[in-house]
Amino acid sequence: MRVITTIQEMRKEISKQKSHSKSIGFVPTMGFLHEGHLTLLKKARIENDIVVLSIFVNPLQFGPKEDFSTYPRDFARDQSLAECEGVDLIFYPSVEEMYPHKTSARVIIQDRTDVLCGKSRPGHFDGVATVLTKLFNIVLPTRAYFGTKDAQQVAVVEGLISDLNFPIELIPVEIVREEDGLAKSSRNVNLLPEERAKASVLYKSLTAAKEAIDKGVRDPEAIKTLVSTMIRSESNGKIDYVEIYSYPQLKSVEYLADIFIIALAVQFSRVRLIDNIILDLGQEIGGENECFDT
Ligand code: PAJ
Repeated sequence: MRVITTIQEMRKEISKQKSHSKSIGFVPTMGFLHEGHLTLLKKARIENDIVVLSIFVNPLQFGPKEDFSTYPRDFARDQSLAECEGVDLIFYPSVEEMYPHKTSARVIIQDRTDVLCGKSRPGHFDGVATVLTKLFNIVLPTRAYFGTKDAQQVAVVEGLISDLNFPIELIPVEIVREEDGLAKSSRNVNLLPEERAKASVLYKSLTAAKEAIDKGVRDPEAIKTLVSTMIRSESNGKIDYVEIYSYPQLKSVEYLADIFIIALAVQFSRVRLIDNIILDLGQEIGGENECFDT
């Protein structure tokens, strides 16, 4: 496994691999790897000749009051986990390498960002799309792997790849959870112990929503109320949003049908957590969706 920190060196290595017609599986991350990231790497390992992992905490996608400086980092640990997963190349650039001067161009996402995290984090998805455009142009992947934990990100990346004609296959990967159901996240370490103990209510509330839908509830407002009430009664987290939209279009729904997402964000004292489930009533009633068309 090689660690590469410059764009020039990365380009050299990628063109070498491309000249041997190798397929490239790409897993972009901000590091502090956990099993969620490792699942993406495992899938990329199975499906490609070469696996590239990028580790870059992208300042462009953090708002001025967000956790860029406190975002957890541990490169030595990430490196040994990546080695275990059979990663071939880690791209680990500095901020100066990626953004050497005030940029004169950036990517603006015009759709699917006026809801959920896009609404409460203005500019966030433009920052994600800009860094991914740069990374896609540097790594030239055959396939790129994204977790549905960040379901809005998957929807935005689907639009980015298709609208800007990147010759890349987007592979969405299901959420990996802790034993109590909490979605794995690098940010979970910033939960206070008493908050961590109660944070499983996020997934419990989504499971309760799914059960109600299985029993026939089709009113999105009733489901949102059920989820919010459960979170408020079992944790001190402050709800940022509980929403239901069609997926991946992220449009409002009056009545639950076809593929939709129930998504939530909750602010704890030092960290804001997100979670979601994507359900497909077009197929088996209440069946949790594993493989959706993005
Ligand atoms: P990061 O939060 O590090 O996540 C990297 C990838 O891991 C994302 O595709 C994310 O959805 C996935 N992931 C995180 N937790 C997961 C879980 N519990 N189960 C499954 N997949 C999970 O997302 C980003 O970084 C950045 O926005 C990035 C795309 C790298 C652009 O900067």
